[in-house]
Amino acid sequence: MKGKSLISINDYSKSEILQILDLAEGFEKQPRQPILSDKVVSTLFFEPSTRTRLSFESAANQLGARVIGFSDAGTSSAKKGESLKDTILTVACYSDVIVMRHPLAGSARWASEVSPVPIINAGDGANQHPTQCLLDMYSIRKTQGKLDKLNVAFVGDLKYGRTVHSLVIAMCDFDATFHLISPAELKLPSYVKQHIKDKNLEYHQYLSIEEAINKVDILYMTRVQRERFADPIEYENVKNAYILTKDQLKNCKDNLKVLHPLPRVNEISEDVDDMPQAYYFQQAQNGVYVRQALLATILQ
Ligand code: CP
Repeated sequence: MKGKSLISINDYSKSEILQILDLAEGFEKQPRQPILSDKVVSTLFFEPSTRTRLSFESAANQLGARVIGFSDAGTSSAKKGESLKDTILTVACYSDVIVMRHPLAGSARWASEVSPVPIINAGDGANQHPTQCLLDMYSIRKTQGKLDKLNVAFVGDLKYGRTVHSLVIAMCDFDATFHLISPAELKLPSYVKQHIKDKNLEYHQYLSIEEAINKVDILYMTRVQRERFADPIEYENVKNAYILTKDQLKNCKDNLKVLHPLPRVNEISEDVDDMPQAYYFQQAQNGVYVRQALLATILQ
């Protein structure tokens, strides 16, 4: 994995994923380890972010690396019409690894094909979000004590939710049973479903959370991705499709945890935050340890 880009979760084998998660456990126990003090990490965010950018920057800082970059492409020369290729070739002169978020699906793969330094995909359009996937898996393993043979429900925008796409694909290697809860307009894309079919795993589709809540170990809530809709009326029709409330957790299994990649808009009622099932802020914290493990693996 040293020196390699991470663009899609499929770029890592099951054993490589487990290696990252094991390493992340070490960083959780001891986060401040200045092992990358001779490295520079670039964070290029062509789309908004709070968690991904700041947890990467926190991870890099805690490892002793320097961080450069931009959080608003409007302040970069992209605004003057510079191509992505030229931006990447330039930033590669200044840093050892580039963490990049971009609205276009496939942009991170394209960047990795022209870049002399590794690219880490921090989200490319509605396609993939592999580092979120790793921290989701870390959170699942930490709360369930295992990754194998779990019942995982995905709720909300399964069509445009890139974190869902990456996590479904990854959990296929761990024999998950999938419970897919979405409006008809926001179903999981068929190319992602194909991964489930290829592994002969079970999946069930529902319109409501109530139909699945008593069967699942993980309830993975997602935001309806307003920025991906071509038609604002379509967004208005589905934006409040699911709002998880305390009452809906009455019939859940004892081990159930609610995950959400965040940001949340209104799909989890704030009264759920104090429930023992709520795990989304710890999940965000786990992102630092996992990203430390990733930077250390790629740069050392
Ligand atoms: N989960 C996630 O990608 O959050 P941000 O958009 O805040 O980075």
